[in-house]
Amino acid sequence: MKLFVLKEKDINEKVANEIVSLVNEKPSCVLGLATGSTPLGVYKALIQKYANNEVSFKNVHTYNLDEYVGLSLNDKQSYHYYMKKVLFDHIDIDLNNTHVPNGVDVDKSLKGYDEEIKNAGGIDLQILGIGSNGHIAFNEPGTSFSSLTHIVNLNKSTIEDNSRFFTSIDEVPKQAITMGISSIMNAKKIILIALGEHKAEAIKRLFQDSIREDFPASILKTHPNVEIYCDALAAKYLKQEVK
Ligand code: F6R
Repeated sequence: MKLFVLKEKDINEKVANEIVSLVNEKPSCVLGLATGSTPLGVYKALIQKYANNEVSFKNVHTYNLDEYVGLSLNDKQSYHYYMKKVLFDHIDIDLNNTHVPNGVDVDKSLKGYDEEIKNAGGIDLQILGIGSNGHIAFNEPGTSFSSLTHIVNLNKSTIEDNSRFFTSIDEVPKQAITMGISSIMNAKKIILIALGEHKAEAIKRLFQDSIREDFPASILKTHPNVEIYCDALAAKYLKQEVK
């Protein structure tokens, strides 16, 4: 894993530039996308670069990591809605080329999502955030490293972390559909971003813990092409030698 400790705005710029370079080199590339707070700055930077005519997303294909079970595509808390609002509505991507697991017709995504990604040529670049408990996508601690797209019961800590997006904690869905760890590890390149002090413990464990299913992100150490971008707060427990 290659580590970069940078200011948040430089992380957003650098990651957006990597995506733009990839798209310009391979216009029909496949991007794996995340939701949540972490990638918002990168998406903003991509919209700006599109507006500056630096890139076209016309032929790009995207696959999102996850979706809440039970939320319709138009529900304002759904990740379908999030992706349209924060990225897809502002760039020239063909919505038919964008994919988010279906939280209503769950069976469809369970059967076909990994197969679809494979048929599209596999994910060229996967963007990841990290949960404070070390989850990647919604693969909570204890998830099998060989998992493909599946349904998960969200942990109490994830429900609490994500309740900030809802009016009350009771509204947070208790289940999600998520790409599995193996689905993520199949990506050719992975970029994980961690911002803020509340990610510091998870980032410390990512570098210091052994590879184990009760800390899902630890599997990334076995992937040949991973970049970790942290701001100074998220990197605060990392020893000088790793930085
Ligand atoms: C979202 C996802 C999650 C988040 C993680 C961090 O698609 O896969 O793993 O990346 O929960 O969330 P934020 O970015 O809101 O801190």
